[in-house]
Amino acid sequence: MKALVTGGAGFIGSHLVDHLVSQGLDVIVVDNLSMGNIHNIRQLDRVRVYVEDIRNKEFMQRILQEEQPDYIYFLAAVASVADSIKRPAETHSVNHMAVFNMLEYIRKTDLQIKQFLFTSSAAVYGNLPELPKKEDSRVEPLSPYAIDKYSTERFVLAYGDLYNLPTVCVRFFNVYGPRQNPSSPYSGVLSILTDCLEDNKVFNLYGDGTQTRDFIYVEDVIQALWLITKRHTQHKRHTQHEVFNVANGVETSLNSIIKTYEKVTNSTLRINHMKGRLGEVKRSVANVDKLMRLGYATNWSLEAGLREYWEGEKNEASRN
Ligand code: NAD
Ligand code: UD1
Repeated sequence: MKALVTGGAGFIGSHLVDHLVSQGLDVIVVDNLSMGNIHNIRQLDRVRVYVEDIRNKEFMQRILQEEQPDYIYFLAAVASVADSIKRPAETHSVNHMAVFNMLEYIRKTDLQIKQFLFTSSAAVYGNLPELPKKEDSRVEPLSPYAIDKYSTERFVLAYGDLYNLPTVCVRFFNVYGPRQNPSSPYSGVLSILTDCLEDNKVFNLYGDGTQTRDFIYVEDVIQALWLITKRHTQHKRHTQHEVFNVANGVETSLNSIIKTYEKVTNSTLRINHMKGRLGEVKRSVANVDKLMRLGYATNWSLEAGLREYWEGEKNEASRN
């Protein structure tokens, strides 16, 4: 079995690649390394990495024809809400058009794909009052990022129905863990917090810190993705053309996670208070019953996940 992982040198993608390799799959990666790093992939000798932009249509079509993957995991994206507000046209070309072009190509060819999985986001739910968010809750995408995720997700599912393609979507909530790149101001908050705590840097806190997120450790995300793939292979009807929340099911404010992380690291964060960011979601928490019905169970509480993440970072630092 062969899997193509776009964005496979990135944070979540590289953990997925590790897992797929460990399960005996032949894995290929397409990543332009704009945020990813080739060394995120642990068993490089067992993975074929193409450093290329997913917007290169001819290249992507050639790879599909030459490699004929059974599974496609579409993770490549500009993952930042704030970045999409700064660069809406650029992010649209990656977060929507590149996926759409691939679907169009697959529809018109006789490629025998077993599963096409698209990674959407909790950002699609926006600020409507219903909490926790269920997969059939109303959506209110507030940023170019969220609009692209929602519209792409709809295309992926509709193409599945209309052209009989084996598609499925996941809506990740806020994922954290090793290899999340902290280098940009648009990086995920926990990678930035880790970086600040490690080097005693000042952390810019946007808004009053009462905004909430549903944080999930990356290993639980991989558990969910693999479960969906396995269920898909056994009983397609449970997963085909469906969308799944992938989260912990616990609502945590930014203020509270800062406190927990200070406790775990036994240090005090230096904070610079900033105005809240535009287009942001105020409260976010998932209902994960649908995923649990597939057999999912959270293995990592927030505190245990943060501890594991921090220990890993310290070990990494002492090796360098
Ligand atoms: P990431 O930035 O670490 O990974 C994305 C990867 O895509 C990077 O390696 C980057 O180099 C690559 N990439 C970006 N643009 C590309 C392009 N034009 N061509 C080829 N490669 C390109 O982000 P991540 O956190 O691992 O996110 C993976 C996916 O999950 C994304 O689709 C993201 O939107 C989605 N997601 C992430 C979270 C989260 O909390 N991290 C939550 C919801 C959804
Ligand atoms: C994150 C993901 C996005 C995903 C979404 C799902 C990243 C970069 N973003 O977006 O891909 O779709 O979860 O819910 O992985 N903050 C600060 N200071 C900082 C950075 C962030 O205060 O230096 C605040 C933000 O203003 C926000 C919160 O922390 O209120 C979380 O920010 P961020 O990690 O960027 O996550 P989301 O915007 O939720």
